[in-house]
Amino acid sequence: MRISLIGYMGSGKSSVGRELAHSLQIPFIDLDEFIEEMNQLGISEIFSQFGEIKFRKLEKQALEEVLALNQDYVLSVGGGTPSYYDNMKRIMENTESFYLRLSPMELKNRLILEKENRPLIARIPDEDLTEFIAKHLFERSHFYNQAKWILDVKDKSVKEIVSEIINHLPTHPQ
Ligand code: S3P
Repeated sequence: MRISLIGYMGSGKSSVGRELAHSLQIPFIDLDEFIEEMNQLGISEIFSQFGEIKFRKLEKQALEEVLALNQDYVLSVGGGTPSYYDNMKRIMENTESFYLRLSPMELKNRLILEKENRPLIARIPDEDLTEFIAKHLFERSHFYNQAKWILDVKDKSVKEIVSEIINHLPTHPQ
């Protein structure tokens, strides 16, 4: 089975993905890491040297390579992946998709601590961050909401989210 986790930056896709893959005994693929390995460059360097448009092209290419793999996995995509090209359609066609949903305020509380590693928000002043996230999330929600399952993850531990996901999977014994 192929499972994808989507959601805004800071929603916990990578930590949940890692734990979920471990529980299901299948590989975990983090699309950002896949892009970094493919290009031998960090995400921030790709943004600063080539710009966002080039990043989105590399992201699309990486997504298609991962979707072409003939194996089970848990895939954590980037926060922006679903909203470019036909990426969300491709994710839906090929994976069981889960949107890990949090409110702008909850996301701000998580992201304010690690803004520097995130090129899209690194230069947004702290006092403007909630508003920036709210607007950005609003633009992306149309895509995120197409996920097969939407999970509210506020105040839930990684373990709780993982078991909720496992309970939704089609082959899970009822
Ligand atoms: C991005 C999210 C990041 C990364 C890049 C752009 C976005 O991934 O792909 O910085 O557009 O939201 P995470 O959501 O894994 O942090």
